[in-house]
Amino acid sequence: MKKRVTKAIFPVAGKGTRFLPATKSIPKEIMTLVDRPLIQYAIDEARAAGIKDFIFVTSRGKSALEDYFDHSPELENTLRKAGKDDLLATLKTTNMDSGAIAYIRQHKAMGLGHAVWCARRLIGNEPFAVILPDDVIAAEKPCLQQMVEAHAETGGCMVAAMEVPPEKASSYGVLDVRQDNGETVSVQGMVEKPPVDEAPSNLAVIGRYILTPDIMRNLSRIKTGSGGEIQLTDAIAAEIEADRDVFGYRFRGQRFDCGSKSGFLQATVAFGLGREDLRDEFDDYLRELMSMRQAAQ
Ligand code: G1P
Repeated sequence: MKKRVTKAIFPVAGKGTRFLPATKSIPKEIMTLVDRPLIQYAIDEARAAGIKDFIFVTSRGKSALEDYFDHSPELENTLRKAGKDDLLATLKTTNMDSGAIAYIRQHKAMGLGHAVWCARRLIGNEPFAVILPDDVIAAEKPCLQQMVEAHAETGGCMVAAMEVPPEKASSYGVLDVRQDNGETVSVQGMVEKPPVDEAPSNLAVIGRYILTPDIMRNLSRIKTGSGGEIQLTDAIAAEIEADRDVFGYRFRGQRFDCGSKSGFLQATVAFGLGREDLRDEFDDYLRELMSMRQAAQ
């Protein structure tokens, strides 16, 4: 029987320099889309997919993340006494059960693959998910849940995938497709950030993975790859070379690249418009703004 996926790794050690000066004193994962930090979207998606153990790979200067997931009895008491039940309920969604969350330090920035490898002892011999909180995915059914369901059929390793404009493929891990079955594709090769003219397709890896424990063994062996870093993509490609299955999964949903300023702004607008309590006022504002801009041209 296939083992259920109950562990997820959240690589959050990155410095977030693209968002300086904001990230001088706050981790980028604490930056908010509307009123929830990026990391909360990732955690909620993992919970919906049945994840029970949350493993954060952090680095120096990220202690605000640990505080964020701690309980806050004083604040909860104040809200309770004031009868602010809605806020209390919102606050409680951030609480994590004791023992459900673990923090591992990546001492040196050596790439995504290395960050994932840092969690190897907590993963043991089980399949696990990896969620990159920079990739925020708005979807009716959360992306990782879609993948867990598809993975129950396929087994092997699975990566979220999305078609990108061919000239953008060099910013991603790119899949070389063996067989295209529509929602899932079987993969015969994977390459991290290939030069545009060498990309095997325009089907890009997006930051959701379901991986076998073999990946940890591969990560122990592989050499530095693209950008001089230990690449997760290379460790997954090594599975294909060992004749084990790797699949791409075309998820249903809209992905925002919140690692870029423009993607972050787009996500802010989309999530703002998605909120019932904000929609009308925000929509009116955007329309007015657009018509003023058009009139000025
Ligand atoms: C990472 C992965 C890459 C993937 C991307 C998705 O790259 O290495 O394979 O396509 O995330 O967002 P990064 O954007 O961290 O450089």
